[in-house]
Amino acid sequence: MILSIESSCDDSSIAVTEIESRKLIFHKRVSQAIHHSKYGGVVPELASRLHTETLPKLLDEVAYLFPKLKAVAVTTEPGLVVTLLEGITMAKALSIGLNIPAIGVNHLVGHIYSLFIEQEAKLPLLVLLVSGGHTQLIEVDEWNKFHIVASSLDDSLGESFDKVAKMLGLGYPGGPIIEKLAKEGDENRFPFPVPLSKSPKLAFSYSGLKNAVRLEIAKGDIKNPQFQRDISASFQKVATAHIVQKLKKYLKRSFKRYRYLGLVGGVSANIYIRNQIADTIRPFGMELISPELQYCSDNGAMIGRYGIELYRNGIFTDISKLQPKSRSDII
Ligand code: KG4
Ligand code: ZN
Repeated sequence: MILSIESSCDDSSIAVTEIESRKLIFHKRVSQAIHHSKYGGVVPELASRLHTETLPKLLDEVAYLFPKLKAVAVTTEPGLVVTLLEGITMAKALSIGLNIPAIGVNHLVGHIYSLFIEQEAKLPLLVLLVSGGHTQLIEVDEWNKFHIVASSLDDSLGESFDKVAKMLGLGYPGGPIIEKLAKEGDENRFPFPVPLSKSPKLAFSYSGLKNAVRLEIAKGDIKNPQFQRDISASFQKVATAHIVQKLKKYLKRSFKRYRYLGLVGGVSANIYIRNQIADTIRPFGMELISPELQYCSDNGAMIGRYGIELYRNGIFTDISKLQPKSRSDII
C-alpha cells in the first residue's frame, strides 16, 4: 500500500491505496473553508496551523496500516510553501521512521489522476484543468508526458468565481455559492464581454471579466438577492463561454485527435460548466470524463493514485530533495 498526503492549500487529506489493485483503503479530507470564509480567501499562516492540528489526527486513523506501507507520497508543488511543508515534514518522518521511500507528487498531475481513482488510466487524453490556481489545456500523451497548449495570462477560473463572490459580500470558496445563485438568475441581464474573443491566441484571461463585474456591482445593490443571482448567472455564462470558445479553437486547429477530454480541478464540480463542455466536444467525437464530485477539490486520493504510477516506474524522491515549491507547472 501507499500512503499519500495533500496539504497544498486549505484541505488536509490523507489516503491509503493498494498498489496492485488501485483500491482506496482509506481516504479522508478535512476542509478548512469555514475558517477562511470570514477573510474572503485562504490565510496561509492560519492554514498552516490548521494542518498541524489535523494531519496527525488523520494519520492516527491509519496507524494500523503502517506495516503494510511500501512508500509515502506527498504533494510538493505548486501550493503555499507554509502549508506544503506540513505534509512534506510528515512524509519525511514516515519515510525515516518506517524505512520506506518517499515520492514527491506535482499537485496538477494529481488533479489529472483524480480521473482514475480506483481505475486504470485512459490515455492519451486532453485535459482541461480548472482550479483555484490554474486554468490550462493540457495534452497528456503518456503517463508522464504533459504538454500545456493554453494557460491563463492572469487570474484562474476558480479565482474569478472566488473574487466575484467576495465582491458580492458572499463567503469563500465562491464557486459553489455562485453556481447555486446562478441557477435562479437571468444570465442575459448583464452582457459582460467574453475575454479575448477577437484574439486568435490560445490563452485564457479572467482579469478583464472580473473588472467588468466589479463595475456592474458598483452600480447595483449587492444586498438585493435578485441582483446577486443575475450577476452570478451572467458572470458564469461569460466565464464559461470564454473556455468554450478557446477549446473549440484548439479542436479546430489541432491535428491531434483525442477520444477523451478530462475536466479536472475544483471548478470541475460545476455542473453548468460540465454540461457546456460536454456539448462543445460532442460534435468533435469526444467524450467528457470528470472525477467523482468528492475528488474534484484537493484530496490525498489523487496524490496516491499518481504516486502508484511513480512507484511502479521506480521513481522516488530523496528526502533531501523533498522541498516545497510555490509556483510550478506540470513537468
Ligand atoms: O482544485 P481546488 O480545490 O484547489 C486548487 O488546486 O486551487 O480548486 C478550488 C477552486 C476554488 O476557486 C473554488 O471556488 C472552485 O475551485 N470551485 C468551484 C466550484 N467548486 C469549487 N468553482 C465553480 N463552481 C463550483 N461548483
Ligand atoms: Zn488543487
